[in-house]
Amino acid sequence: MHAPRQSADPAFRGDVLAGLKAPIPAIPARWLYDRRGSELFEEITRLPEYYPTRTERALLEEHSADVARIAGIGDAVIEFGSGSSTKTPLLLRAVAPSAYVPIDISGDFLRDSAAGLQAEFPDLSIHPVEADFMRPIRLPAAVEGLTKLGFFPGSTIGNLVPRTATDLLRAMKDTLGEGSWLLIGMDRTKPVDVLLAAYDDAAGVTAAFNLNLLHRINAELEAEVPVDAFRHRAIWNDRMSRMEMHLEAVRDVAFRIEGESFTFRAGQTIHTENSHKYGLRDSRLLLRAAGWAVCKEWTDPDDWFALILAEAEPPRFAP
Ligand code: AVJ
Repeated sequence: MHAPRQSADPAFRGDVLAGLKAPIPAIPARWLYDRRGSELFEEITRLPEYYPTRTERALLEEHSADVARIAGIGDAVIEFGSGSSTKTPLLLRAVAPSAYVPIDISGDFLRDSAAGLQAEFPDLSIHPVEADFMRPIRLPAAVEGLTKLGFFPGSTIGNLVPRTATDLLRAMKDTLGEGSWLLIGMDRTKPVDVLLAAYDDAAGVTAAFNLNLLHRINAELEAEVPVDAFRHRAIWNDRMSRMEMHLEAVRDVAFRIEGESFTFRAGQTIHTENSHKYGLRDSRLLLRAAGWAVCKEWTDPDDWFALILAEAEPPRFAP
């Protein structure tokens, strides 16, 4: 009935089993992005309700030249998580770095997007690095001595709780080194009705994106989760200042995954994603907590999304 499962990723299996057994059932958001999930996310970025992608792109179109003026021209751009295919060229065109280092945990993704960019920028020297950027990374020798501009678009930072987000931002500072810059996209707090629409769109694409996780579990693990027993829920958690995605059981349900039994009562949820939203001072504090001093912030007229340029803070005495 099912395809062979010998390709099952042990990390996926472990996260699903441990996550569903936890007191508050949750599965790490990164597992949403299999091939189908990535396609659905691409579709989300084009939805009328989903403002972040087009807002950030417009900010990059308008302000990349300012970034180049402040952070300098001709050095190295280091992108954390490669493949934001429509955004990276905007920055590369303005900054005109001598080297570009895309870092991604997925080698396939990395090679595809590097090849695409090389065709568009034939003179640019591209040095892909396959690594988990949650930890400090040794950059290729080719960018040694160059001023580095880190690029972390897409509000990906919002997926992480603040404790992990500061760990990541600090790791980025260690990777990039002294005198480096970071250009980061952060989603802002805004009226809750706008957020609810963005994470529960009328066409149901976000619902399909969330429910795809259950299809993935059934396809890749020895599992028969009744997908129709769950529905997509997007909620605003005001205390934590974040949108949350959940899969909510619409009836009492029992199923097995890899020989283990799970039961959910109607109304119980599996927490699948966080998307933190930061106010002006929140984003400054988050960056400062990790050793980055905000130098310039650009936002859209509604102040819904921020493109932030920060500078690695030199170590110094403080009162
Ligand atoms: C890719 C993490 C930035 O949080 O807005 C979109 C993912 N989830 N709709 C976001 C997402 C549901 C997205 N990020």
